[in-house]
Amino acid sequence: MATGFFLHHNELVCDGVSVSEIAGAEGTPVYVYSAAAIRDRYREIDLAFAGYPHRLHYALKANSTFAIVKTLRDLGSGVDANSIGEIDVARRAGFAPSDIVFTGVGKSAAELECAVPLGLKAINVESTGELDRVEAIAARVGRPVRVAVRINPDIDAKSHPHISTGLKINKFGVPADAARDLMGSIPTRPLLQLVAVHVHVGSQITSIAPLRSAASFVAAVAGELKRRGTLLDYVDLGGGLGIPYDGGPAVSPREYVSALVDAVRPTGLSIVIEPGRSILGQAGVLIARVIDLKPRNALSEFAVIDAGMTELMRPALYGAFHRIDPVRPRSGAARQYEIVGPVCESSDVVGRDRELAPLAVDDLLAILDTGAYGSAMASNYNRRPFPVEVLVDEGRWRVVRRRQTVDDMLAMEVEGQVDR
Ligand SMILES: Cc1ncc(COP(=O)(O)O)c(C=O)c1O
Repeated sequence: MATGFFLHHNELVCDGVSVSEIAGAEGTPVYVYSAAAIRDRYREIDLAFAGYPHRLHYALKANSTFAIVKTLRDLGSGVDANSIGEIDVARRAGFAPSDIVFTGVGKSAAELECAVPLGLKAINVESTGELDRVEAIAARVGRPVRVAVRINPDIDAKSHPHISTGLKINKFGVPADAARDLMGSIPTRPLLQLVAVHVHVGSQITSIAPLRSAASFVAAVAGELKRRGTLLDYVDLGGGLGIPYDGGPAVSPREYVSALVDAVRPTGLSIVIEPGRSILGQAGVLIARVIDLKPRNALSEFAVIDAGMTELMRPALYGAFHRIDPVRPRSGAARQYEIVGPVCESSDVVGRDRELAPLAVDDLLAILDTGAYGSAMASNYNRRPFPVEVLVDEGRWRVVRRRQTVDDMLAMEVEGQVDR
């Protein structure tokens, strides 16, 4: 049976469970995730390696809601953590230090102090200075540390400029020549153990070429290192595989993985990848209610909904496109709507110029493919609480994150302190 979200008797269901029922019980806005879709997608990528040694390290930044993290743990995934907070969540969800790679362009001194003694699978360093700081902590705590060097390969991911990371002009990684020098210094530094070379050239990559080029680049670097006597444990090829937000064709996991394996096989090294969006993206929807309808121009109306940039920042942040469908489409000729959120910003537009079945106030809309970089990027702007999140699993559903309250927000704000 197909997993995820589809219309059944003219109503959107998640793995057979009525989305209206969930919204009726929990209110809106609500994120709904399909555990089955997460599992299917994880396994599809995992199985595509067809026996080639590898490990998926799910990128927690895409969605680190605890129940999701535990679902990935139960599948046997490792994780890619981008902050000490994500490492902490992963540890609490049962991941061992050896399941965690610590990536990120700005690891603070406090974060490194915590991370180095943990004995992680690798700290993926992004600069000469960072490697020095890691080494100094390792010396202080008296234990060697496993590191990977993130190289900036100057490859154009041809993705949105805000989520391209592999060009020289981007802040990420160490430029290739400097990285060679840096890695060349590691054998003389006894507390540093170089275990991998890392690249991540961007997110929402929809053509195979940049992913293949990045993998070939890493394989070539691993080959050079081997000739100089440095043997790596694995190569870390990052994340980045895109999903078809417009419902069109996409690079399949099989095509993606076989390009990586073809590039890396000559080195004999095992492959780590850090997929986020490609596992979670299509496994979640954001359900919102139409609050108001009002004329916009001769052709279209505004549909004001109760979710916006505070729950889903991607459209306002990147001009990202998400399909939006009524949960129970009404009959009648399609009309044009500008679907906007309630936030006090003109950029709070969730969907521009959409042709939809006619809407009425109180109708439910599903904003599709919002499992990744949706709730994880939510904010409290306008004092809007974080939305409730629901996981559907084996025909049943449960709240995995309750709706935030104003009490929750104010609990962090301290009164009665003496001025300093
Ligand atoms: C280092 C690194 N790894 C993995 C990812 C996950 O990328 P994606 O969600 O596109 O798979 C990111 C996201 O930007 C990243 O920066």
